[in-house]
Amino acid sequence: MKIENYIRDIQGFPKEGILFKDITPLLNDPIAREECLKILLNSLNGQKIDVVIGAESRGFFFGMLLADRLNAGFVPVRKPKKLPFTTISASYELEYGTDSLEIHIDAIKKGDKVLIHDDVLATGGTAKALADLVNGLGGEIVQFNFLMELSFLNGREKIKDNPIFAAITY
Ligand code: PRP
Ligand code: MG
Repeated sequence: MKIENYIRDIQGFPKEGILFKDITPLLNDPIAREECLKILLNSLNGQKIDVVIGAESRGFFFGMLLADRLNAGFVPVRKPKKLPFTTISASYELEYGTDSLEIHIDAIKKGDKVLIHDDVLATGGTAKALADLVNGLGGEIVQFNFLMELSFLNGREKIKDNPIFAAITY
């Protein structure tokens, strides 16, 4: 069982010149999903996690599965104006302009051991914003984990002070 076989390449999505890594086959196969979850969990070497942070939207899928297996809380980080309670936000750069992500101010307690999960580490902009939010609330980042890292984009550089794990590296 190779989880790589459940990531589908889509040429030219969302725009020309981009090779999109589609995780929907992985989501749709319980055996592949379980294998992927096992790889991500093993990478933690039994470290205690209080809260898993998942980034909207593709970070929600495995983020919630991880939280469930770790018997940890799950916290959604969302795109602007989606969360109903008081939030803090962190902005990050896009190809053109900036965007931001938000978290509820009571989602993490000072000193909580936090696992940050997203599907892909690409330029690292999203991951850096996630780190800023967690640090802003006083959480301790135990690890960043990703299904995939696009290493040629060097996103790792933006979060280099933290342990980083990716189940697949391209
Ligand atoms: C994608 C992907 C990661 C992020 C990685 O999310 O799911 O979250 O980009 O890119 P970066 O390292 O360059 O920041 P996107 O913002 O497209 O939204 P989605 O998860 O809702 O599809
Ligand atoms: Mg995303």
